[in-house]
Formats: sequence, C-alpha cells, structure tokens
Amino acid sequence: MPVHDELPLTEQSTPTDAQTLLHPSPHADRLAESHVPKGLNSAVITGTGFYMPEKVLTNADLEKMVDTSDEWIIERTGIKERRIARPEQAASDLALEAARRALNDAHTRPSELDLILVATVTGDMLFPSTACLLQDRLGAPKVGAMDVSAGCTGFIYALDTARQHIATGAARTVLVVGVEVLSRITDWTDRGTCVLLGDGSGAAVVKQSEHKHVGIVAGVLGADGSRGVDLYMPGGGSRHPATEETLRKRMHYLKMNGNAIFKVAVRSMAQTVTQLLDKIGAKPEDIKLLIPHQANLRIIEAVAKQLHFSMDRVFVNIQKYANTSSATTIIALDEARKTGLIGPGDLTMLVAFGAGLTWGGVAIRW
Ligand code: COA
Repeated sequence: MPVHDELPLTEQSTPTDAQTLLHPSPHADRLAESHVPKGLNSAVITGTGFYMPEKVLTNADLEKMVDTSDEWIIERTGIKERRIARPEQAASDLALEAARRALNDAHTRPSELDLILVATVTGDMLFPSTACLLQDRLGAPKVGAMDVSAGCTGFIYALDTARQHIATGAARTVLVVGVEVLSRITDWTDRGTCVLLGDGSGAAVVKQSEHKHVGIVAGVLGADGSRGVDLYMPGGGSRHPATEETLRKRMHYLKMNGNAIFKVAVRSMAQTVTQLLDKIGAKPEDIKLLIPHQANLRIIEAVAKQLHFSMDRVFVNIQKYANTSSATTIIALDEARKTGLIGPGDLTMLVAFGAGLTWGGVAIRW
C-alpha cells in the first residue's frame, strides 16, 4: 500500500491566545516569542458546545439489521452505540443546536459574528451551503458564511481557516461548526461501514485576543487526493448525478476501503502531532491531552503507541457516539473541557484524518 513515509503536509503556524490569562503556562514566553509573528492577532476558543440527537442505536439494534455482533463491533472498533437524527432533522438543525450552546458558553451574541464556517459532508443540500442556512437560523449579520469539505478532518480545516482570518484581522469573532447526519448516506445493508457511523454536531466560538501566550498556537493541514477512492460517495455530484442506475448501484452511500484507511490514519495523525510539536518547540510530555478523531479505538491506540503516549492522556468517547466525521473532534473537545480535563495553561492537540484523503491538527494552549 503506497503510504508515504513523509506525508507532504502543507502548513501554517500562527499565534494565538486566550480567554484564560490567570495561569500562564510555563512555556508561555517561548511560545509567544517564537509563534506570534509581529502584526498578527491571536485566535482563542472562548466557547464550545455540542448536540446529539436523542435516538440511540445500540450494537444490539444493529445485530437485527446486518450480520454482525456486539462483541465484534466492540472488539474491532470500541463502539457501543451511536446517535441517529430524527427523520425531519437535517445538518442545519443539528448545527443550530450546537452553535447556540457554543455561543452561550462564549457569552457571545450571533450579532457579534463576522464569519461562519461549517465543516460537513452531509449538508442539508448541495447548495446553498449549510453555513448560509445556519446564518439565517441564528439571525446572524450578513457576514461571510461557507461550508468546508474535508471529510472527518473538516472541523480542523475550518478551525485553522478561522485562525487565519483572525490572525490577519479579517475577522474578530468566528463561529466554527462540525456537523454530520451520516445516517443519511450510510448503507444500512453494509456491515463494513454501518456499524462505524453516527450523527452529531459540535461548535466553537473563536475570537481575536491581545494575549499572545494562549489560543490556537499552530496548525498543520495535509491532503493526498490520489487516495480519494478509499473513502467516498460516488453518486449525487456532477460526475454521477442521480439516475435510476446510480440508485440501483447504491452509489449514494458512503464507500470505504477500511483496511487501507486504517494505516494512513495512524501514520498521518502521529506525524501531524510530531509536526505540531516541532512547530511550537514542545515535547510529547508537554501535551496534557491529545484529542484525536474518533473513528476506531484501535486507530487511536495505535497513534498513542507510535507517539509513546499512555492512553490516560488521550481522549476517547467513541464508545458513545461512534464516528460522527467532522463533528468528532469538537464534540470531544467540548466534553473534555466540560469534564475538567483541560485547565488553564494546558497544551492540547486536536488531530484528525478523513476523506480526501485529508489530515490535520491544531495545537491549543488554554
Ligand atoms: N461485523 C462482523 N464481521 C465483520 C464486520 C461487522 N460489522 N465488518 C467486517 N466484518 C468481517 C469481515 O467480513 C472479515 O471477515 P472475513 O475474515 O471472513 O473476510 C473480518 O470481519 C475482518 O474484516 P477486516 O476488514 O479485516 O476487519 P478490521 O479489523 O480491519 O476492521 C474496520 C474493519 C472497518 C473496522 C477497520 O478496518 C477500520 O476501522 N478502518 C478504518 C475505518 C475508518 O476509520 N473510517 C473512517 C475514516 S474517517
């Protein structure tokens, strides 16, 4: 399998900082000096929130739908249950709930937003973007709003885009959402994929800050388009618009080469963490909590092993929600924050991989 030893990662590093200035980190000065280019602003996450549909689909439920077992799913993936949106709920409905929670958490009104970014591959429709629908539902000003398509890395791509807008002064307050209704593109007759996926949404408010020693201190983004067919949905776009044939061939469902993805996932996420550490001049032991994409517990454990991390410094909630694609990292970040796993001065990293293939990560000092 052609996995690159050195994945070609494009990257940007920027500064950042924060809402919590009471306990500057021991690395604060070093980070401030080396990672906040003069004239650029810091981007700080001031609020987070997530929303899960109420309906729980357990492994036992799936046993009645396809030839699988609770034991196989837990052993091979770590997943116990996932959430499924109500029939009338689309991506913008889930996004709205998460966005409201993040705005409340950040004590920010929709009127303060000056950019809205939504990471999704399951938007309400091909266009208009789900970000535009969300802008309207929130009653936000008529500022820029766009969707970001980077598969499960989508939230990180969007968050890094928010950071760049804030760094240059193009925006002061950005809403970043990761949302998926994967149940709508899941082939419920394919046991190789349907056991892995779930619905959900998460959101973050990112603000410009004067303080240079906290915030999103670095980002790394990468992609390898030659591997696109390892994880894709062939039907419904301009290549294969919907016809009776595309329906018959089940082309409007997610297709995946699970084994090939597994290996790229481990390598790209481990490499992204190493690159982020290099960028900020930190060591693995400086990371308080690693928050990886939740696709498979075995992938997460393999990444931890490659990095020589003990699992108590790696956040896992896949057992409850399965893989919600671009929503996983922000949902995990919100849970980690709200359960007190992240405190002032802590260094955390979000890291993900997904369709594209894409990968990426951000380092955040709190
Ligand atoms: N229940 C029971 N058996 C299943 C099954 C299921 N849901 N899915 C697959 N199997 C079977 C296979 O048919 C195969 O049977 P065989 O040996 O008789 O051929 C066997 O289990 C092993 O299949 P394999 O594909 O080798 O399993 P795996 O351990 O690699 O796990 C994945 C499969 C999909 C869970 C794993 O490859 C994975 O998680 N890949 C990454 C997927 C991912 O991250 N996707 C999202 C990217 S953002």
